[in-house]
Amino acid sequence: MSEKVAIFDTTLRDGEQAAGTRLGSREKLTLARQLTRLNVDIIEAGYPNSSPEDFKAVQLIAKEIEGPAICALSRAVAADIDACGKALAKAKRPRIHTGIGASDLHITGKFRDEKYGGTLAEKRVNILRMAVEAVKLARKYADDVEFYAEDAGRATPAFLFEMLEAVIGAGATVVNIPDTTGYTVPEQFGALIRGIREKVPNIARATISVHCHDDLGLAVANSLAGIRNGARQVEGTINGIGERAGNAALEEVVMALRTRRDYFGLETGVETREFHRTSRLVSDMLGMLVPANKAVVGGNAFSHSSGIHVDGFLKERETYEIMRPEDVGFMESRVVLTARTGRHGLRDRLQKLGYKLSGEELNQTYQRFLAVADKKQEVFDEDLVAILHDEIHPVPETYQLDYLHFYSGTTAIPTATVRLRVKGEIKECAAVGDGPVDAAFKAISQLTQTSPKLARYEIRAVTGGTGAMGEVTVLLEDGGRKVMGRGASTDVIEASVKAYIDGLNKLASLG
Ligand code: KIV
Ligand code: ZN
Repeated sequence: MSEKVAIFDTTLRDGEQAAGTRLGSREKLTLARQLTRLNVDIIEAGYPNSSPEDFKAVQLIAKEIEGPAICALSRAVAADIDACGKALAKAKRPRIHTGIGASDLHITGKFRDEKYGGTLAEKRVNILRMAVEAVKLARKYADDVEFYAEDAGRATPAFLFEMLEAVIGAGATVVNIPDTTGYTVPEQFGALIRGIREKVPNIARATISVHCHDDLGLAVANSLAGIRNGARQVEGTINGIGERAGNAALEEVVMALRTRRDYFGLETGVETREFHRTSRLVSDMLGMLVPANKAVVGGNAFSHSSGIHVDGFLKERETYEIMRPEDVGFMESRVVLTARTGRHGLRDRLQKLGYKLSGEELNQTYQRFLAVADKKQEVFDEDLVAILHDEIHPVPETYQLDYLHFYSGTTAIPTATVRLRVKGEIKECAAVGDGPVDAAFKAISQLTQTSPKLARYEIRAVTGGTGAMGEVTVLLEDGGRKVMGRGASTDVIEASVKAYIDGLNKLASLG
């Protein structure tokens, strides 16, 4: 039997930091269920002390999810660790992830205050003390404590080794070596992991984890170099989403280990056939499209188009394909629902997709499903997910669309009339604009007396064909707050209006 590499998924924590919005606890739970089907070893559910909603999300996931260890993030600060301990109280396998800056840049940049010491040497002494105290406190709540040495990729190796020895001595079971800024290159990062194995005297008592960011497009390569040199846990996110350029894409790391088992000689426990479904769910929930050429899960990852390739592929698949699409869940027969699919069939399908709805939510979704099925006859999984996001709102609906009419054409002045229900009261307004979407957004701004900046507007066809549903995602910014709104409809103007209103509702819920 070959050795195993543990898969640590941080889509719900580091990944979520990318989206310009936060996932609600319920959305996080849905994703956690899918990650459980994917059979990852650890789910990092959030950072409980960052907000009451994140605390709730970690608590909910800790209570509901069985199988993977549930991990919560903290700084090396007692209040953070206490919050992790409380949020994880019901977890069957809790893990606290605590840590502190390890590079000189982080130490002098983030711990400038004199109270941490006047010189770098004095600050280092205090940082070590804080690291050790954090691990000891975390061990009071959980037997499984992971320590991250932030910005390890740029740290002075000798100090990093000293820090790791100290935290393992204090009870850390896993030591995480993050390349926080995505600065390293594979050979160098691999050598760092090798150095840790050689120079940290008590390293055999802990698992080495790698956590690489993708600023130079090297996150997966660096992670694999770390694994090759002895790391036995790897951290990353689905679709590689995360802060800035993102994190290592877990589907790429896992499929590299699997496809090149001849080279790595290592196993993971991941149910790789769930990758495609998980990727879609993450993309839908965070409103972040997967590029068609993305490795493993992109729409073109298994498409062959040039004549030479197609000819070779048809003669012998392996001429141009190193993985089988079915192994990452691509070829799963597409279940098609129609207007004749009953409520029961719909509930069943939604459950398979990871969604558990209350009776009332199911009714609401069913009505909308029927309306969509009437218009486009066949309803695919992707349509269902879009319908759900459109119908089930994680925040109260301060504004509801009651009526929309627009007028546009090559010579006409685009005009939109919008009627909204604002806290129960009906309000109506008309406006003109550069196009019907612009006109409708202007009317809504007047009605709601809001004027957030439209920082991003994206539109995509949920499935193929001219009758497909369109899904619109908007990123709204208002006074430093960023939210993402989403709307779906077979009419793209209506989808745009719904997305804008969804964003406004999210802004309203932030107060
Ligand atoms: O990138 C990083 O350093 C992190 C740590 C909090 C683990 O995300
Ligand atoms: Zn990170």
